[in-house]
Parts: sequence; C-alpha cells; structure tokens
Amino acid sequence: MCGIVGYTGSRQALPLVLGGLRRLEYRGYDSAGVAVMDGLGGLRIAKKAGVLANLEGCLESGPDPLTGHTGIGHTRWATHGGPTDRNSHPHTGASGKVAVVHNGIIENFAGLRADLESTGIEMSSDTDTEVVAHLLARAYETGPTAGDLPESMAVVCGKLEGAFTLVAAHADVPSMLVAARRNSPLVVGVGDGEMFVASDVSAFIAHTRQAIELGQDQLVVITPDTAEITSFSNSEPDYQRFYVDWDLAAAEKGGYPTFMEKEIFEQPAAIERTLLGHFDRSGIVLDEQRLDQRELRTVDKVYIVACGTAYHSGLIARYAIENWTRIPVEVELASEFRYRDPVLNGDTLVVAVSQSGETADTLEAVRYARRQGARVLAVCNTNGSQIPRESDAVLYTRAGPEIGVAATKTFLAQVTANYLVGLALAQPRGTRPALQIARDFEVLSQMPATVATTLTLMNPVRELARDLAASKAVLFLGRHVGYPVALEGALKLKELAYMHAEGFAAGELKHGPIALIESGLPVVVTMPSPKFRPVLHAKMLSNIREIQARGARTIVIAEEFDDTVAPFADYLIELPRVPALFQPLVATVPMQVLAAEIARSRGYDIDKPRNLAKSVTVE
Ligand code: G6P
Repeated sequence: MCGIVGYTGSRQALPLVLGGLRRLEYRGYDSAGVAVMDGLGGLRIAKKAGVLANLEGCLESGPDPLTGHTGIGHTRWATHGGPTDRNSHPHTGASGKVAVVHNGIIENFAGLRADLESTGIEMSSDTDTEVVAHLLARAYETGPTAGDLPESMAVVCGKLEGAFTLVAAHADVPSMLVAARRNSPLVVGVGDGEMFVASDVSAFIAHTRQAIELGQDQLVVITPDTAEITSFSNSEPDYQRFYVDWDLAAAEKGGYPTFMEKEIFEQPAAIERTLLGHFDRSGIVLDEQRLDQRELRTVDKVYIVACGTAYHSGLIARYAIENWTRIPVEVELASEFRYRDPVLNGDTLVVAVSQSGETADTLEAVRYARRQGARVLAVCNTNGSQIPRESDAVLYTRAGPEIGVAATKTFLAQVTANYLVGLALAQPRGTRPALQIARDFEVLSQMPATVATTLTLMNPVRELARDLAASKAVLFLGRHVGYPVALEGALKLKELAYMHAEGFAAGELKHGPIALIESGLPVVVTMPSPKFRPVLHAKMLSNIREIQARGARTIVIAEEFDDTVAPFADYLIELPRVPALFQPLVATVPMQVLAAEIARSRGYDIDKPRNLAKSVTVE
C-alpha cells in the first residue's frame, strides 16, 4: 500500500516522479505529493488529497514550476490520519530541510511521537511518517551522525518497529536520496547517469530496465551515478540484480478504456504463459531448482494460504488437488492462519498464493509456516518479491503486470498454477496415471483458446449489467467448484460496483440465505456440468426453482447445450464446455465482465475502486 518513487540525475525530476506515481497509483490514491530539490538549498513540496490528477492540476495552475534534478513522490493509501492535504506525504522535519515519503506502518510511532513532542516539537499531521521526518532531521543535525544522511537514516531505522519503505531527501545534499526498507518493497532502477528508487519497477521501466531488489533491513544511497546498498541491522546485504523483461506496453491501457478491461482480455495469454515450460518428458515440472520429486512425494497435508481473490483461487484448486492426489487440502485466509496455531510439520506443504508477493498477512503466514518446519511453495506474479524470496520454492504465474486494483488475469493464472501444483503432487504418488496427467495438461493448454472464445460471448453480459445497475444487491450461488466462483463473483461486484453481494454454497440456501430472496432480487447461479455428477446438476436445478418460486430473478451461467436449464433462467449465459474441475477458468469470466460493466453504468472508477489498494502491505 502506498506507492513511492525517487529520482536523481540530469533530467528534471518532477515529470519523472509524476510519471512514476501515475504507474504506482494502483497502490493507493487517497492523496499524492512530491518534493523537489532545487540544488540551491531549497526543497519545494506540493501535495494534495485525492487522486494524483488533483495534485497535477494544482501543479499546472500553480505560480511557478518545481524545478530541480532530484525529487521524491508518494501516492497514499491512508492508515494513520485521514486522507487530507495535511496528512499527505512528503512530511518534513522541523527545519523544513528534510522530506520523507513512507509506505507501511510504524507500529511504535505513538511512543516516538510523545518523545518528540516532549522536546517541544510540534506535529503538523496525524501520520506515523512525520515522526520519521523529525527523527531524521534531528539525527542529521546533532549527535554522532550529524551531517551524514545515510548514517542518520540507519540510526532512525534502528528505532522503528513495523513495516516501512522510506525515501528521504535533504536540501543540503541535493543529488542524493536515501531509501530504506523493512517488510515493504523497494527496487532501484539503474539508469545511465540517473537513478530511481520505487515501490515497483513499473515506476521506471520507461527509462531503465536494470533493477536491483533490496532485501530486508537494507538501505540504499543513490546519486546520479551510484547506488550503494548496506544493511542497517548488521546482516549481510543480500540484494538481487535483475533485468525487467516485460514490455512497457504491458503497463499501458493499449486502447482499452480501463486497465481492468485490458487485463480481462489478456487472460488467455496469462494462462498460456503460466503453463509455459512446466511440462516435459518427465511430466509436470514446478521449480526444478528448489523442489524435487522426493520432497513432493512425502507431502501428507497441503495448506493453501492467501488473501482476497488469491484465496478464492485456492478454494477452487482444492477440489482438483484432493481429487488428483488424495492428500487433504486446507485453504486458509492468511490473516487467520497463523493466529490459530495450525499443526504443521516437515511433511506439510504450504502453498502461499499472492499476486504481489508482498501481502503482509500472506508473508507472515509464510514465516510462521517455515518456523514450524513446513515447506513453503510460493505461487506469485511478481519476480523477486518478498514472499517468493522467503519461500522454499516458487511457481511464477507470469500474467504480466496487473494495474487494475481488482484482480482478473492474475486470478486465472493463479488457478492454473494451483492446478499445476496438484498435478505435480499427484505425479510422484501415482494417484493419477502419467497419461492422465498429460491429458490434464493438454486440457490446460487448450484453456487459452477456450477463454478467448468465452470472451467473445460477453456482449449479452454487458447488456445484462446495464439492466442490473440499479439493483440494491446481487446474490451468487454455486456448488462444488462453482461455489468459490460464486464467492469471487460477489467479491468482484463488491469491489467494483460497491453493491451488496454475497456468494453462497447452494446447499446452504435453506439454512438462511433463502430468507434474503424477494421479488426481483438478481441471483447469479453457476450450473455444474450435467455430465459431471448428474446429482449436483439436478440439485442445482431444484435450487433455482426454489428461488424463482420466491420471486428471484435468475441469471444462470451454464455450459452450452445444457437444454435443461433454459426454462428456469430469466437470463441465460452460455459458456464453452470444459471438464468439470476446470470450469472456473471459464465461469469466472462473465462475473468479471458483469462487475466491471455494472461499475461503469454506475459511474465508478473501474481501475481504482474506493478505499482499496492492490497491495495490502499492512495487516
Ligand atoms: C488486495 C487486492 C486483491 C488481492 C488481495 C491479495 O485485496 O485488492 O485483488 O486479491 O489483495 O493480494 P495478493 O497480491 O497477495 O494476491
């Protein structure tokens, strides 16, 4: 949460910092701010509540431009203090010479703030970040670290508890930025005679593809020609250099009105790339460097831990993994997992699913699992991020950058990757014949084409969405793999359309949810395939009749040629036929389109839903 960026080099800093913030806005958009050093001992700051465009408007209409070759910027998701101008970053120390931007939460800020106030310092915001600015200013002005910004930052970091990425600028050293990180992400972009620091590479890939990912408790000092990395907690700095190989166009809208719509259309490619290289003559290959067949054979319990949409990907995969491997699989919200002291051991495989690789709860779940001796496999979309770094092995989803806050292509990529995990576990155990595994992989390999076909069938869903835009609530029902699809459908609608939406297992209908049914209430039902356990199909048809009898408006998602459903569907959405366990890969698509279109009809920002951020780096 919160996006931060810094630049120092020979070009004007302001446009580069604003350009970086534009790409990081998915991390939060409660306010935005910049600080630019003019090189003459002056530090100029502009900040404004609301989306970045508000700040840009102020800068355009302001009396004079912020010129200078070193600058920092911030786009905020508010934690401490409301989303106001005064709480916007950057924050400054008492002298006004130091400016700090921050992503994370300083957990011990109240005590530090009280100490500072007892020495006469007056705070001008309600944030935890301002405390850092004052501490840094003081360390730079007096005591053993006086006049040394990097050393001052190291000392201050030693006093902080919690999660933070910090970037600091000081007017006395106008061609230097000092950045530090603990538990929140920080990458350096190494340019030709210029350097960047940012929350992620999208902020600078228009300018350089050479990057360095900092490790835990590290500090980097950048000048136009150097990036010096040290540790502030006496450990060896283990940072990673890497080349960003994704196309810049991947982070652009490419002609679509929103990132989310573009990402929905990128789903076939996301699945295809996720599968790439994971099947050879020996069968399924996961992370060959770090996870061998012997280790997979001994697994006797699987936990999938994740948050939000990633959690739903785990719920879906459980049906397939248990079916294929006969290993018990638990799927847990990462925020609950470690607090209930789950029983883990060396034969437990914990699969941590995370698009960003930096979700605080999932990261803590990984740490907990490893402390208990379990092996951890990360399923992740972000190269080199913290969750894969701290896991025993990693399976990358390779969906490419996802900018829309609501996850779409990364979700289908996660489901695909989770299926690969299931097949890889089944392989050495012999619970599924090698030939069948090869067939399953073949089914997955055809999915990009099937999802592409599904996307061509979405016009009726768009029409339906316009019709539903005025509804107060929408319910979603499913059975078997259709149940987590219902949960995901409801989540998408909540996130994007701010509409009350709930997903239910259809079998639970009569245990409460049916009381919600009233005349005209839209209920989206995902039908199981009639060929797969016909009993489920029959029960679902009964459920539809039950709600229809009580006045619900039934929107039925069913596979093509399922002639039995038409009489019970007020609205029928037909999908290509696929093997039952894989149905979520197609059935989720109309849910995504429905939510996006209802949000559009209601006039909401599809890419930046209110109150949300894409990476939740605080608990
Ligand atoms: C946030 C995002 C969701 C995402 C969840 C988990 O809530 O808005 O789209 O599913 O975090 O994120 P992760 O990066 O761990 O997959």
